[in-house]
Amino acid sequence: MQRTWTVILAAGEGTRMHSSLPKVLHPLCGRPMLWHVLEAARAVTGQQIIVVGKGGEQVKEYFGHDLVYVEQLKRLGTGHALLQALPHLPSSGRLLVLCGDTPLLGMEILRQLLETHQGQIAGATVLTAEMDDPTGYGRVLRDQNGAVFGIVEELHATLEQKSVREINTGAYCFELAALKEHLPNLTPNRKKKEYYLTDLLPLLAGGGYRVEAFKLSDAFPALGINDRAQLARATAKLRERINEQLMLSGVTMVDPATTYIDCGIKIGPDTVIYPQTILEGETEVGEGCRLGPGTHIIDSVLKDNVICQKSTVWGSKVEEKATIGPYAYIRPESVIGPEVKVGDFVEIKKSCIGKGSKVPHLTYVGDADIGPGVNMGAGSIVVNYDGRRKHKTTIEAGAFIGCNSNLVSPLTVGAGAFIGAGSTITRNVPAGSLVISRSPQKLKEGFARRFLENNKEK
Ligand code: UD1
Ligand code: CA
Repeated sequence: MQRTWTVILAAGEGTRMHSSLPKVLHPLCGRPMLWHVLEAARAVTGQQIIVVGKGGEQVKEYFGHDLVYVEQLKRLGTGHALLQALPHLPSSGRLLVLCGDTPLLGMEILRQLLETHQGQIAGATVLTAEMDDPTGYGRVLRDQNGAVFGIVEELHATLEQKSVREINTGAYCFELAALKEHLPNLTPNRKKKEYYLTDLLPLLAGGGYRVEAFKLSDAFPALGINDRAQLARATAKLRERINEQLMLSGVTMVDPATTYIDCGIKIGPDTVIYPQTILEGETEVGEGCRLGPGTHIIDSVLKDNVICQKSTVWGSKVEEKATIGPYAYIRPESVIGPEVKVGDFVEIKKSCIGKGSKVPHLTYVGDADIGPGVNMGAGSIVVNYDGRRKHKTTIEAGAFIGCNSNLVSPLTVGAGAFIGAGSTITRNVPAGSLVISRSPQKLKEGFARRFLENNKEK
């Protein structure tokens, strides 16, 4: 493995994406296309080199500067791209060449390609696949004995060649000695003026090296992404794989087809996921949770036995046995404590809610620290913003906040205090006290009856 290298070609312009983002940075299940390629390469080879072009800075920014990058200043084709990496490679050993736009070729396939190459003692082994619709791919040309003698691009293929269904996946294994000898001799394609890496195969064969092919039994992983329709197809396939693995590890998905989970997300066994649920980013879900339907979790940690339906949780932590939703919105830097109930039409922003507290309906909590056992009545609002600055509110253990009250921050409500419904509170409330701040009730007995009688329609 130490002597096996990978070069990933990622300098293409990705014109067909119509995007300001480099093609290889377009994400599939939360990670850039190139990340998937790199992960697979890392699993089977010791050292990786990425050939970057336009947008290379963005690529480096994402992947960090510890990787080896090679610049292809002019986009002169896949052969030219590999040529740029040649000085960085040793003169013997094995090289895997991958395209940055085939993210479904996982490590298992790459391992098989390397093993096949080694077994055949070939100068080059190309990874191929049989496609029902080979449109857009290079076609593999074989002689009467089945030996590969070349690859022709769609653009240059004759009608007969176009009918070939075996395509080039764009992944190859080369002997470095063969590559060092022949890659510099590659000449540009006469029509397109590009150096095609595929044209190296006949050069190698002519130089006495064996050129072999390793054909995939399932063509789907060969999907190359040149446009956003292909991106969506590849994403769907990847999603299927992710869901499959999670289900096999003990997660129930009522409808995997409408369950969207980014790669790398851990979910504990006996968690049930209902349809239309999306789990994104750095998210972790414990055991025995019930998520969905219609739930969106982004960069959050949910501990065991959490229930979250028709809600969004973003950049927050939800402790054991908390229930959220339906229709709640938990915004970043919040901590929802154990056994807390956050109910319908509640928004929590950058706040902590202590164990067992209840925020059951129609409430806004912003920049607040709420202790355990607090009850926030329906329609209660933490008024955290004075039009210029945000202020903090503290509500201590066991306080009872009446319905429809406003807590104008900065403010502390002491432990066990009661706040009467409909109050607007602007000063600190001592522990154990009752505060009511609303206009006193006036009663005029019989007024309504008399009013109606006096104003009867004639
Ligand atoms: C390429 C292959 C084709 C194969 C297909 C598989 C060639 C000539 N054609 O075609 O046989 O069936 O992939 O998906 O190799 N790149 C560079 N620098 C360049 C040009 C391209 O780094 O100057 C990179 C791109 O970023 C991309 C990869 O090489 O990751 C393939 O380039 P692309 O233009 O997508 O080639 P295809 O037309 O798909
Ligand atoms: Ca491509």
